[in-house]
Amino acid sequence: MKKSLFLVALLPMAVLADADKAPEREALKLAPEYEAHVRYEMRGFLVSLQGINEALAKQDFEAVARYARQSGRSAPAQGPRGLGKALPERFRELGGATHAAFDQLAVDAETMGDARVIAEHVSSIMKNCIQCHATYRFGK
Ligand code: HEC
Repeated sequence: MKKSLFLVALLPMAVLADADKAPEREALKLAPEYEAHVRYEMRGFLVSLQGINEALAKQDFEAVARYARQSGRSAPAQGPRGLGKALPERFRELGGATHAAFDQLAVDAETMGDARVIAEHVSSIMKNCIQCHATYRFGK
């Protein structure tokens, strides 16, 4: 009797735990050097976003552009040979669009110097981060 009461008390927790379970994401199995490079680029994205925010708070649009270009299309350190082919097309598209959006942010920072425009770029770039992270993970 005591035991079954205990189990009943636990039931709502079990249901909650299930509802809280992180949704499944598509696992990408990449060679270690590819995964290391993508993760390196990711950390660069984070550095750019932080720098952009800090520069924006100071209304320093040249610095905003500089931080953005660090994650632009031409900025990422040369990836290991074959990386592009190892990634699913959707992943490549989202990644490319994210790099391109940083370039556009840089151009707008230099030509407009409008904090609101930059904040909108940052927000829309972060939607790419969110979307891709919700879709993919590395691992088996
Ligand atoms: C095209 C897909 C994609 C986009 C776009 C993307 N990421 Fe990622 N990111 C990933 C994947 C996949 C991982 C690995 C996650 C995992 O295995 O759980 C990752 C991991 C990371 C990590 C951890 C890096 C490490 O050293 O482990 C950081 C930080 C990160 N992303 C930041 C960002 C930021 C900031 C953005 C947006 C500016 C972004 N990412 C956009 C796919 C993406």
